[in-house]
Amino acid sequence: MLDRTRYQPLVDPIETASRDEIAALQTQRLAWTLRHAYDNVPAYRAKFDAAGVHPDDFRRLEDLARFPFTTKADLRDNYPFGMFAVPQDKVVRVHASSGTTGKPTVVGYTQRDVDTWSSVVARSIRAAGGRPGMKIHISYGYGLFTGGLGAHYGAEKLGCMVIPVSGGMTERQVQLIQDFEPDIIMVTPSYMLAILDEFRRIGVDPRSTSLKIGIFGAEPWTNSMRAEIEDSFAMDAVDIYGLSEVIGPGVANECVETKDGLHIWEDHFFPEVIDPATGRVLPDGEKGELVFTSLTKEAMPIIRYRTRDLTRLLPGTARSMRRMEKVTGRSDDMMIVRGVNVFPTQIEEKILTLPELSAHYLVVLAREGRLDTMDIRVEARPDCAEGEARRAGDRLCQQVKDTIGVSCTVSVLAAGALERSGGKARRVVDNRPRD
Ligand code: DLL
Repeated sequence: MLDRTRYQPLVDPIETASRDEIAALQTQRLAWTLRHAYDNVPAYRAKFDAAGVHPDDFRRLEDLARFPFTTKADLRDNYPFGMFAVPQDKVVRVHASSGTTGKPTVVGYTQRDVDTWSSVVARSIRAAGGRPGMKIHISYGYGLFTGGLGAHYGAEKLGCMVIPVSGGMTERQVQLIQDFEPDIIMVTPSYMLAILDEFRRIGVDPRSTSLKIGIFGAEPWTNSMRAEIEDSFAMDAVDIYGLSEVIGPGVANECVETKDGLHIWEDHFFPEVIDPATGRVLPDGEKGELVFTSLTKEAMPIIRYRTRDLTRLLPGTARSMRRMEKVTGRSDDMMIVRGVNVFPTQIEEKILTLPELSAHYLVVLAREGRLDTMDIRVEARPDCAEGEARRAGDRLCQQVKDTIGVSCTVSVLAAGALERSGGKARRVVDNRPRD
């Protein structure tokens, strides 16, 4: 826990600038972004032309609503590098996240984009109470997922000692926390609970560790989970939000002094909340789907990206930048299972490669102890022998693990066993407790 009596926020001047100053900067940067996207990404040019808008039509912030949305489908249609606005030799890094089917969604960064990203993550860690010289244990996964490397570069930029552990091997995580004595941990909240259980299993009091701050995100979590983690570890727990398409972690972060929602770093990401059914922009305070436009990104500017995350915009408190309420749900069927984004359509695609299985399936999510479980219930084809169907189920299980990256169980059922729906098929049953 941070010593609240001695805590002094440390901010970039823009974090506490007036709303007018922030709006002026956003207007100037939006004009640049729209022009950059239109001039350099054929897909944006085609979409703007089809909607009858041109970057010159943008004069004030409200004009942004005239421009078309971007969705995951746009990124998929331009897989892998078609959304890049700079030549490939200017791209120093790519990351990827789950697409709805087959191909992942690819994002790219110039050196300046990596610097911007590092700065917003450094700012996020500072907002959480982190300071130069602290030690940070990072258990977000390293690799194509933006969590590990995003947190890593931000922590280094702030001047911290980084302990790049990545995810998994819970016993080793606990050992390293005891031996290296980090001040901060960055990890998904559900995995933090698994770490907590391991401390208890080996009989070490989690309150005795060096950890003072936890920065948790990549999946929804609640204030009651915050209370449990804070109490069990005697630490401050704050929320970090982000998504690959917009930059990665560090789009918004809670301030440790208020813990009242996530301040969006509005000098780099312009937020809107829309009605997911009509696309109409909603006034601040109303709940809807969050939409982001990047303001400074070079390699992959993103215009009005529909995040599918449901939340509302609130006025600034600890900073002048607006807050978003904790994200609690999505307007599509994406599941987050042990921190991995999974679409039912990805599973369906795998099922359909196995001739022994039919397209009647249901994904059942539950929680065992601290960890999510995923059971895929799928019907065998009517003419398929039982043994063959079971082996196909085993193959499905392995394929889901190998290609989507989550462990699951597969229950192969007799043909006709699953309830048929008259309208839209129900593909997911989420029995995980809300808290
Ligand atoms: O999850 C980036 C990230 C890494 C954020 C580490 C925070 C910490 P994606 O894999 O592209 O990127 O998944 C983005 O995850 O649209 C939300 O649905 C969900 N998500 C991310 N952060 C939060 C959060 C990373 N704090 C998708 N609360 C987003 C709720 C979150 N959901």
